[in-house]
Amino acid sequence: MDLSKARERWTELASLIDDAQFNYYVRDAPTISDAEYDSAMRELEAIERQYPELQSADSPTRRVGGWRASEFAPVTHLERMLSLDDVFSLDELRQWVTRVRGAAGLPEVAMTAELKVDGLAVSLVYEAGRLVRAATRGDGRVGEDVTQNVRTIRDIPQVLSGEVPDLVEVRGEVFFPVAAFEQLNASLVESGRAPFANPRNAAAGSLRQKDPRVTASRPLAMVAHGVGALMMEGPAPQSQWELYGMLRSWGVPVSPHTVLAPTLDEVEGMIAYYADHRHDVEHEIDGIVVKVDDRSLQAAMGATSRAPRWAAAYKYPPEEVNTRLLDIRTHVGRTGRVTPFGVMEPVRVSGSTVSMATLHNQSEVRRKGVLIGDVVVLRKAGDVIPEIVAPVVALRDGTEREFVMPTHCPSCGTALAPAKEGDVDLRCPNAESCPAQITERLAHIASRGALDIESLGDETALALTNPEANREFVTGVEPMPAPQTPVLRNEAGLFDLTAEDLAHVRVWRERRRDGQPTGEWEQVLFFWTNEQRRRDGTVLRPSTPTANTRRMLDQVAAATQRPLWRFLVALSIRHVGPTAARALADRFRTLEAIEAASVDELAETEGVGPVIARSIRDWLEVDWHQRIIAAWRRAGVTFADASQVRHEVRRTLEGLTIVVTGTLDGYTREAAEHAVVERGGRAAGSVSRRTDYVVAGRNAGSKEARARQLGIPVLDEETFARLLADGPVGVSTSS
Ligand code: IVH
Repeated sequence: MDLSKARERWTELASLIDDAQFNYYVRDAPTISDAEYDSAMRELEAIERQYPELQSADSPTRRVGGWRASEFAPVTHLERMLSLDDVFSLDELRQWVTRVRGAAGLPEVAMTAELKVDGLAVSLVYEAGRLVRAATRGDGRVGEDVTQNVRTIRDIPQVLSGEVPDLVEVRGEVFFPVAAFEQLNASLVESGRAPFANPRNAAAGSLRQKDPRVTASRPLAMVAHGVGALMMEGPAPQSQWELYGMLRSWGVPVSPHTVLAPTLDEVEGMIAYYADHRHDVEHEIDGIVVKVDDRSLQAAMGATSRAPRWAAAYKYPPEEVNTRLLDIRTHVGRTGRVTPFGVMEPVRVSGSTVSMATLHNQSEVRRKGVLIGDVVVLRKAGDVIPEIVAPVVALRDGTEREFVMPTHCPSCGTALAPAKEGDVDLRCPNAESCPAQITERLAHIASRGALDIESLGDETALALTNPEANREFVTGVEPMPAPQTPVLRNEAGLFDLTAEDLAHVRVWRERRRDGQPTGEWEQVLFFWTNEQRRRDGTVLRPSTPTANTRRMLDQVAAATQRPLWRFLVALSIRHVGPTAARALADRFRTLEAIEAASVDELAETEGVGPVIARSIRDWLEVDWHQRIIAAWRRAGVTFADASQVRHEVRRTLEGLTIVVTGTLDGYTREAAEHAVVERGGRAAGSVSRRTDYVVAGRNAGSKEARARQLGIPVLDEETFARLLADGPVGVSTSS
């Protein structure tokens, strides 16, 4: 592959991974399988090995999985939260152990073997034994502040007991106990709300609540599996095992299932045992984590930018079950791609109930050899995305039939075609007015990573753009009412919506009895309440917009003021994910400036190569795209960041006390102190044990001396600048 081909492929993969991470971490709604994700990541790594110049600072290969949504205040971790390298077989595990032994220069190295808890990583900061902050992992450097919510988790001590350290970042996994999860879902369904897909999502959904009372009502639990920054008086723990003992002595929950494995045999024993007993544990697990026990050996082995070299995660193969494939239908996606998906008799697999699975495209259906009516093997790839593996041919009785890919769009009837010659995927080219594509685009616009309009979810998007969805399933309604015209024929009108526009919108709904679908359909008002009449026919209570509808309209109005990058994501420009959008917004500040820029100018933006640049230009040239922008502008969207810039000084120094002394070249004393405070730090006048950093300029006197005496890090001006920009990760904290 030559450099330009490589660059093109790099961009494609990076944006695929970007989207996948975003959907997984931010929307809690994964879109691709682990296997696809892993293979994209491996290909990206291979390209970067061949062309190191392609590895930009924000390449997905440098990012620890995770994505930052912006509802909770950002928190910079004192030490990075790393991920784990996976191994998928005993062979790979043995190779890893051989490398560890080599690094140690020993024939055998003791390890801890622990359950890999399928939950949500958190970091808990305790200062002098008090819980002062709790954060999610985020991108590994900066997470989200969930302190208030974490304080409601009973397992997690507010105050440590015993010989507490001066400072510790406890790292662990918050999880939703499986038994409680089943109950939660039953009660959600009961009250007409959507159940969570699995305990991991339930944990994430419960922890990332704006109202801590909701979190408090959920029985979340935690196990600690390590520490980040640690400052303590007494001797630091020598081993991982000792560290767990210490955490336990402080009252921090650690896993009762962890074992100390003197040799590889014990590790393999643990792996074999839990392969058969995965579901006997109170939480879900997706593997076994193996860690070098000796902490000095850990330190000597170090970490890559993503994961420690002294630990590995053995991943269990996904679980498989059989079920019947009832039908293969097609779905039209946001970009017009038409994908077949299987509709199955609902079954439980890897902890959740599954009734649908994507089949990707026509050739995938053929390759798998599945027929409608087959009993099929179903598994959760990477334990997340359901996947139809293969038919059980032996169980066929001759009534099965082949799937035929439609030649015309199931939504708008336009002839389907590949986007370019040789593509396996078929697309509906009618992007402008295909109702299915509009629905998907609108849902995307409102999604958390775009304009974040919380009360405009998938169902509302459907009601606005496609109220006749499901009409094809309706039977027994006589006479059938005439089809309605959608309120929104495309996204241009979003910000002009009024309550009156929505007064008569009805959707088709299938009646349920005891949570089960009945096959009976009715048409119900979606946005307004039903009018109530007295017996004599006079109106008792007129139809009015529901509370949800009013909230949605308010939120839509508020969304006109979102920062530019969110609008760039919202516009569904090919390849423009959150990373590129942020970079473009940072550089150009307004949409006008982007509209005026040439492909070359766009491509000069860090993280935006020629492929993305071209794609933006092409998008902007399309007249109906221009009409969307014009309509949004008329409705008050400014597509500019000016007011945002001030807010976006990142709070990199949250919780830190900093003393500035001596003469700096780039700052007056006041400006330096202002910069500290603005980023959430405290600017102190004198040095004490509680001081985190001393910034020393020229002719710094006694304060610098005192800092050195106390072992407090002394920073020069350049390092200070890095501290301001990146927080403590920019300078070493392990002093
Ligand atoms: S140790 C520096 N131990 O799995 C090593 N992680 O896929 C950091 N996880 O980010 C992690 N159980 O959130 C460790 N027993 C365990 C774990 C565990 C679950 C999570 C953790 C990590 C992720 C990597």
